[in-house]
Amino acid sequence: ASVLVLNGPNLNLLGTREPGIYGSETLADVARRCAQAGERLGLAVDFRQSNAEHQLIDWLHEARERIDGIVINPAAYTHTSVALADALTAIAKPVIEVHISNVHKREAFRHHSYVSPIAEAIIVGCGTQGYVLALERMAVLLEKGTK
Ligand code: DQA
Repeated sequence: ASVLVLNGPNLNLLGTREPGIYGSETLADVARRCAQAGERLGLAVDFRQSNAEHQLIDWLHEARERIDGIVINPAAYTHTSVALADALTAIAKPVIEVHISNVHKREAFRHHSYVSPIAEAIIVGCGTQGYVLALERMAVLLEKGTK
């Protein structure tokens, strides 16, 4: 099975961006952890990041036939993008939403997510380990044949 791991805006700055909130691991470190988890779980992991809403949506459209599940940290687009949520809905594959920080402990505008209503699961506040947890859960969902 193959899983698209998508990362939204500013996550390219991981490791240097507000390390008190997001930790010191870089996005390359996270990509490596996801690749390792993928090998262990028998999942082909396609790991990507973009700062552009249209790029994330285009990647989802392209991956539509090819992938079995989506792990996504939509970053700030979580709280703003109906378009991204619509693209995820259109694909009809299991989605797991990840946030490195505990968004519910932070500003009120981070408490609402356009993605959560369509997600099978949501992992918040587990740091970058959240990506690995999401892949572990995705392996179970895909084995069970959910969706
Ligand atoms: C984030 C939380 C969002 O509110 C924020 O805009 C991000 C990162 C997280 O991983 O904790 O860019 O998605």
